[in-house]
Amino acid sequence: MRIHSALPFLAAVLALVAPAVAAPAAEKPDPAADAKAFQDFFRKKFPQVKFEDFVNGPYSMNEDMRKQWEEKEQFPPYEFALEAGKEMFEKPFKNGRSYADCFANGGIGIRQTYPYFDDKEGKVVTLELALNRCREANDEAPYSYVKDEMAALTAYMASTSRGKPFDIKIPDDPRALEAFEKGKEYFYTRRGQLNFSCASCHVQNPGERIRAEILAPALGILNAMPIYRSEWSGMGTISRRFTTCNSQIRGVPLEPQSEEYRDLEYYLSYVSNGLPISGPGARP
Ligand code: HEC
Repeated sequence: MRIHSALPFLAAVLALVAPAVAAPAAEKPDPAADAKAFQDFFRKKFPQVKFEDFVNGPYSMNEDMRKQWEEKEQFPPYEFALEAGKEMFEKPFKNGRSYADCFANGGIGIRQTYPYFDDKEGKVVTLELALNRCREANDEAPYSYVKDEMAALTAYMASTSRGKPFDIKIPDDPRALEAFEKGKEYFYTRRGQLNFSCASCHVQNPGERIRAEILAPALGILNAMPIYRSEWSGMGTISRRFTTCNSQIRGVPLEPQSEEYRDLEYYLSYVSNGLPISGPGARP
């Protein structure tokens, strides 16, 4: 991949930058304080970016890209997936039931509440996981987490939540707090041959270029998912983006929807509470 050639340079730059928001180990986890510190960090670092604009990823960081994007949005490249997703969502399963039966409010306008902590199971449940569980409960084969069907379904569900702020809850349950803490730890832990953490790129270097790409800020980084990317010539789910970013640092990606990735999604979504869902999105 062409991105690799720029990475050794970026690694050298990063070595000079002190970790910016990696909070000191607190005695008791305090997600609300973490989210506030996280959001304050980005507001201070980018005072010219309007808060709601962080959901637009690289476009919030770069005026030229933003112009190209605004033109593109008149004929959005995700339109096809969105229509397919709506059709899929509305088509009953072979047993006559449908996705609507599996979700609150028939699945409409609820994306901003995912992932949530399931207290019966004691684990984080993402929208992608809930969709496959719904399929399996209705005797349908699960979809791949990184392919078009899942992207289309989540694109449609996101579109019904556009403008609704992320509203992720962390119940006062030690298991939920642990999931949040684990997600945070995953986000700040360096790994892969290049020894990068997610934060190395998306907290310390948003707005910087890696070859043709402008790094998105970690604040609001999931609000536009799933996304159409020209480089993929298609749509990508959150799972696809997580595994791709792990591979970029020559690390070994985890299984999509593994507990670690779900905790990571829980952390990243929670610290973006208050920012509106903007998905599906389009990227160059
Ligand atoms: C080597 C730098 C690098 C690292 C490390 C990295 N990413 Fe990325 N990430 C990118 C690039 C490049 C893109 C595509 C451009 C962009 O949107 O930022 C991207 C895009 C994303 C996006 C989509 C953002 C958008 O608005 O299009 C998400 C979500 C994401 N990364 C999450 C993660 C997570 C989670 C980790 C840690 C597991 C991680 N990244 C680690 C470079 C990195």
